[in-house]
Amino acid sequence: MEIIIKENGQAASEAAARVVARLVREKPNAVLGLATGSTPLMLYRELIRLHQEEGLDFSQVTTFNLDEYVGLPPEHEQSYRRFMNENLFEPINIKMENTHVPDGLAADIPASCAAYEQAIVEAGGIDLQVLGIGSDGHVGFNEPTSSFASRTRIKTLTQQTVAHNARFFAGDESQVPHHCITMGIGTIMDARMNIMLAFGANKADAVAATIEGPVAAIMPASVLQHHPRAKVFVDETASSRLRLTDYYRWVYNGKPDWQRDA
Ligand code: PGA
Repeated sequence: MEIIIKENGQAASEAAARVVARLVREKPNAVLGLATGSTPLMLYRELIRLHQEEGLDFSQVTTFNLDEYVGLPPEHEQSYRRFMNENLFEPINIKMENTHVPDGLAADIPASCAAYEQAIVEAGGIDLQVLGIGSDGHVGFNEPTSSFASRTRIKTLTQQTVAHNARFFAGDESQVPHHCITMGIGTIMDARMNIMLAFGANKADAVAATIEGPVAAIMPASVLQHHPRAKVFVDETASSRLRLTDYYRWVYNGKPDWQRDA
């Protein structure tokens, strides 16, 4: 794993956006895996800026989102489809038909999940997957003890995740769906590159366990230790529990120009 520590979330998000932009410039029909939540917002704002000010072209890009709540229609204020439309898709020139978010209203959830996996394969696989991390170490909505072999499926959220996400539902936990559809950990591991973003002190323990702890299903993000191209972008506070921060900075600052993409 490559660990990139920046002074704040904005700088870390700009560095992550450079990696995404470089891929899209080199491969205009790239397939991106995308995430929701508070964490990727600065990354999406920077991608929108790169589109508007520097002509970054998304017209041939395809996207697949990690997850969606079961039972929320796409127009619901808290559906991840709506989040993506408002925070990224509408302000850039992506074709809406090339954007994919799991269907939270699917009548046949297993069939819909299998079709989602198949659509990823037919698109050529995910070139770059954007990830956040839960304070419990979840990636997508793969909660602790999720199988490392899992594929897109229905999951039950932990009480911690329901409580954490209540802030988006006017603080009312009773409004937060308990079920979601999420790409599996196996799906995420198939992406050719994974970039994880984590900001704030409440992520520091999960970040340290993910990067420097044992690989274990109780800390789902730790599986990235097995991924050949995983980059973690953190701010100072999210990096505060890491032991080898001096080494990570030394590596990043000493990179030869030809290897530098962030
Ligand atoms: P957050 O969520 O970005 O809202 O903290 C991250 C996650 O749950 O993966």
